[in-house]
Amino acid sequence: MAVVFDGQKKIFTLHTKNTTWQTKVSEYGHLLHLYYGRRIKDTDLSYMARGINRGFSGCPYAAGEHREYSLDTCLQEYPAAGTGDYRVSCLHLEHENGSQGAELLYQCHRIYDKKYSLPGLPALWAGKGEAQTLEINLKDIASQVWVTLYYGVFEEMDVITRACVVENRGQVPVFLNKALSACLELPRGDLDMISFHGRHTMERMMERGSARHGRVSVDSVRGTSSHHRNPFVILCDRQAGEEHGQCWGASFVYSGNFTAQAEVDPLDQTRLCVGIHPEGFRYKLEAGESFAAPEVVFTFTHQGFGKLSDNYHRIFHKHLIRSPYKNIRRPVLLNHWEAMEFNFNEEELVSLAESGKALGMELFVMDDGWFGQRDRDTRGLGDWRVNRDKLSSGLGGFAARIHDMGLKFGIWIEPEMINEDSDLYKSHPDWALRIPGRQPNVERGQLVLDMCRREVRDYLFDSLSEILKEGQVDYVKWDMNRNLSDVWSKSLPPDRQGEALHRYVLGVYELMERFVSAYPDILWEGCSGGGGRFDAGILYYMPQIWCSDNTDAVERLRIQYGTSFCYPPSSMGSHVSVSPNHQTGRRTSLKTRGIVAMAGAFGYELDVRVMTEEEREEVRQQIQDYKKYYDLIHHGTYYRLTDVEENRDFAAWQFVSPDRKESLVSVVLLHARSNPLFWRVRARGLEEEQRYSIDGSEETYEGSALMYGGINLPVGCEDNSGVWFYLKAGPR
Ligand code: DGJ
Repeated sequence: MAVVFDGQKKIFTLHTKNTTWQTKVSEYGHLLHLYYGRRIKDTDLSYMARGINRGFSGCPYAAGEHREYSLDTCLQEYPAAGTGDYRVSCLHLEHENGSQGAELLYQCHRIYDKKYSLPGLPALWAGKGEAQTLEINLKDIASQVWVTLYYGVFEEMDVITRACVVENRGQVPVFLNKALSACLELPRGDLDMISFHGRHTMERMMERGSARHGRVSVDSVRGTSSHHRNPFVILCDRQAGEEHGQCWGASFVYSGNFTAQAEVDPLDQTRLCVGIHPEGFRYKLEAGESFAAPEVVFTFTHQGFGKLSDNYHRIFHKHLIRSPYKNIRRPVLLNHWEAMEFNFNEEELVSLAESGKALGMELFVMDDGWFGQRDRDTRGLGDWRVNRDKLSSGLGGFAARIHDMGLKFGIWIEPEMINEDSDLYKSHPDWALRIPGRQPNVERGQLVLDMCRREVRDYLFDSLSEILKEGQVDYVKWDMNRNLSDVWSKSLPPDRQGEALHRYVLGVYELMERFVSAYPDILWEGCSGGGGRFDAGILYYMPQIWCSDNTDAVERLRIQYGTSFCYPPSSMGSHVSVSPNHQTGRRTSLKTRGIVAMAGAFGYELDVRVMTEEEREEVRQQIQDYKKYYDLIHHGTYYRLTDVEENRDFAAWQFVSPDRKESLVSVVLLHARSNPLFWRVRARGLEEEQRYSIDGSEETYEGSALMYGGINLPVGCEDNSGVWFYLKAGPR
């Protein structure tokens, strides 16, 4: 049993294969946190909850003279503001009389043999026997507000999810000024915090620093999860590394504003609270209404970041992503964008597709520019009908030409946006988010559609469905090229405007759900100006996300490295583009570009018509290689072999098949050196006593030699030379 309840002691224990989480109802009814870490055999850990009488830390009224008991110092499962706990809280409740606060006391609980779900929100899911749920019901002492804490326990995967629902069972409205999803308490103050920051074209740069007294917040208030900070953080031992050390991960399954706040308190205890950012958030609960706070996926390991990432890769692959494409080989893609941007016509696209087909590409993607009057980025968004000046055969006719070549056909859409220069805007100017009496902020010449509104979503579903049907579309790239501002929805009364940012995200999810259920065979790719909405929420709907608009192979080393801490390589859209690179001007060999792009959902994005015969041959070979290594890359275990932020000599990563009989070690040698040093890269995940050949060589090497001694890297290479080593188990 993954969830165990000791009725006498009122202790809940959640076990996974290698971890234990324990919580207890105190003598006054508060839900205290006892432990989350390495597995401990069934036991009572309540001895860890200690208290002494401390100045300026008061006690709940019911505790009377029991001054050792203070919510200001206890570890808690779901701390609420206004109860004498002055640390970061999860819940900020405002009552009808203007008072603020909630003292949450245990009422009842339920344990059942399936994973809870959160209607309208993405969340991990499980088949029979794969997960258990613990629901704990708390109630505010002085009102009829109930909070249900949800725990999903994936025993085999070493994952525990959390979410909560706040419900107003009273007769008068209340307001949630903050309703975060979960809290994790660790009884120590000597931890590092790792997060992933960035900007457009430079997403998810890893950053590590001490969690410290006071609060460190990683967050987004941009309306999306954002390029700038990713909704994923790690707390870890100061000495933790790839292969050792305790680490706790928290991944937020949500695509809008978020906060992950870590606070080290005066007693050197660390509290991490994760949920929707309270800025711009005020949610009204009328009598009988409830609010669901999105899910947080926690995992713990004492075996370092490599294992932590592996836990996320596995659970996302198995229990988050739903697309059939997680098990079907995805076609090698050719996207027109970096080759032509808006400047194309049907014949040019056809000739590009033909060239791609001749090289072995399997899916042609017509990116931005095919609809409305879309000849530049200030026009056309919202007008989801084909531009006949560009595609003279119409969408159906053009798609048929692509299909007739034996290629699959994909398109780009950006449903959530509108240009003022569009027919849609002329007929529905009020569909754009804007605040009455103010001029809206404009980004890339576009405004944001009010996705809170049903009629907007219906229009998008209907008009885009026509397109998907007419073009017999096989692949869709769902882009989103700006952040939200001027958030005011005509569909909401004044006292509910604080819900608009969240209702926007719910609206997007509702629309995505409608599309993926109506068109389950389409391969969907998320995108937001590259990787501006790369989060677990999107992966629930779409199995891959365009990782970054930065396609420079060397820059991608850092971007893909940071992304890999939480998200599986199969989820990272990754393309070979032209050299010198559009964004950086850097020259890299086709080989290096191929090796780097193959650490993800692979494709090409350049004008393949102008390649030399030699390059064309190399591309043909790359596509063969990709097919050969596909299962390793998409279904193998991924290892980061170097720290790209530290190692300036070379970057390396590796895929190992589940049976450990095959492996692909990829390396980019970053700097040419005179009088070069002998570098080796140490493989991981092999069988110690198994012998492996390298790239089909006669000679074989023992797994232990390749892992503890290493693989020799070539000398005398140019800057940024990509090399890879295919290891195959031979006779022992
Ligand atoms: C941003 C995307 O990230 C690009 O790949 C491309 O689709 C452009 N938008 C098109 O406008």
